[in-house]
Order: sequence, then C-alpha cells, then structure tokens
Amino acid sequence: MQLSTSEIRRQVAALGPWFHNIELNGVPTAPDHFLGNYPYVKWRKFEAEIPGDLTGMTVLDIGCNAGFYSIEMKRRGAARVLGIDYDPAYLAQARFAAEVEETDIEFRQLSVYDVGSLRERFDIVLFMGVFYHLRHPLLALDLIREHAMGELLVFQSMQRGSPDSTMLNENHAFWNTDVFEEARYPKLHFVEHRYADDPTNWWIPNASCAEAMLRSAGFEIVSHPEQEVYLCRPDGKPAGEGAVYPARGGSE
Ligand SMILES: C[S@@+](CC[C@H](N)C(=O)[O-])C[C@H]1O[C@@H](n2cnc3c(N)ncnc32)[C@H](O)[C@@H]1O
Repeated sequence: MQLSTSEIRRQVAALGPWFHNIELNGVPTAPDHFLGNYPYVKWRKFEAEIPGDLTGMTVLDIGCNAGFYSIEMKRRGAARVLGIDYDPAYLAQARFAAEVEETDIEFRQLSVYDVGSLRERFDIVLFMGVFYHLRHPLLALDLIREHAMGELLVFQSMQRGSPDSTMLNENHAFWNTDVFEEARYPKLHFVEHRYADDPTNWWIPNASCAEAMLRSAGFEIVSHPEQEVYLCRPDGKPAGEGAVYPARGGSE
C-alpha cells in the first residue's frame, strides 16, 4: 500500500525518536542525527567489502534498530533477512520502514543472548553497534560464533583508547606489569553509570581489544575497511578455545 508523504511524516513522528536516518519516500527519519546522515556515513565506508549480489543468501541483523542495514541487504538480493532487536520501539520503526520500502524482511524481538533459540545459521551475520551496549560482550560473541555463524560476520563497535592495535606475546611473566601500561594492550573500558548520557553503554574496547576478542571467540579478521568495522570468518576453532584451564602451573 502506497502511503502519502504526509501520512509517512505523521507516522515517522509518532514512532520517533529514531536512531537510524532512513529516507522514506523523501521523508528523513532522523535528519538531525548527531553523527550526521547515520548510518549511511558509516555504511558507505565499507559497503564495497560486502558482496554486491546476495542472491540466495540468508542474513541475520543483530540489533537491527530501524532496519537500515537489513534494507540494504535486501536491496542486494538476499533471499531472507531476519532483523532482531530487544527494543520493541525500534522494531516498530523497522517494520514501518520495511513497509514503506515495500521489502520483505522479518523482524523479531530477541536478545543477542538468545540467538541459539533461532536454531539457524546465516550466511551473513551483522553485529553492528551492539557490542558496547552489552554487559556480557564476550558471551555474545561466543554465542553468535557457536549458534548463528555461517560464512561472514560484519562487526562494528565504538572504540575508545588507542586506535592502534597490536598482537601481544601469548604469555607474560608474572612480574612483567609494564605491559599493562601500554596504550595498545587490549583494554575494555567499563562504564559504571553512563557514557554520552547513555546508561546502556557498558564496555568500550580499544582497537587491540576488539580484535583480540573477535579472535578469542573463534573469528579470523579478513578485512578492516574502517576503524570500527571488521569483516570476519569463523576460523574453524570453537568459540572460546583459549579458555582451556592448564592442569598446573598457571598463577593462582
Ligand atoms: C547503536 S544501535 C546500532 C543499530 C544498528 N545495528 C547500527 O549499527 O546502526 C544499538 C542497537 O542494539 C540494540 N540492542 C542493545 N542490546 C541488545 C541486545 N542484548 N540484544 C539485541 N539488541 C540489542 C538496541 O536496541 C539498538 O537498536
């Protein structure tokens, strides 16, 4: 059903505020976004890394918000796109945006921690802008790797601290405390109250930490087109493989 511009404008206002700016038949949903035309400004920096033709492929968009990326995946011909988010207000926006775009996307209210309940693997999993909103970010990566991963993970996280990454030695002596002072040591900054006025920001990694946690969850980073964005493939090892306890000899 084709909605008039004034009806779209009315519903956009009623469903707001929006985090995603999407042009719905010429009506922008978040024209005053503090990051500019978001997420288009992010998307254009890595869209060339995603296959242009997704015909026959399945996509899971975790933390889909108003569905900007879900809609882009469908535009590239994906056979099935499932967007999940735990916030019903964002899902209502996503359903409305998909209706105006006349595109067939399924949206479900689900937390990332429940991806196992889907009992389905997806060729492409988008996990964009959700990591730092989680109290248990490594658990989420492990669950995605274990239950939902097919071929390609598209990951993005806000980063703070050193933007330079490093691969450290696998082990350090107990008395080597200097290593923790290095800006490039993997660090996850804990937000007890709020960051940027947002009480749902919990753990913000530096670049080394984002990369180390992806590796630790069983992903190989195959491309890094933008500071916050990583394209990864499952590396064949199970999630959390490094968490095998040594029988003896570790520090107490
Ligand atoms: C910053 S927005 C990112 C939206 C979109 N993925 C993007 O990159 O533009 C974070 C989204 O993650 C959702 N979210 C936060 N915690 C979640 C969880 N545990 N499970 C599913 N979605 C979650 C929020 O509701 C919100 O829509």
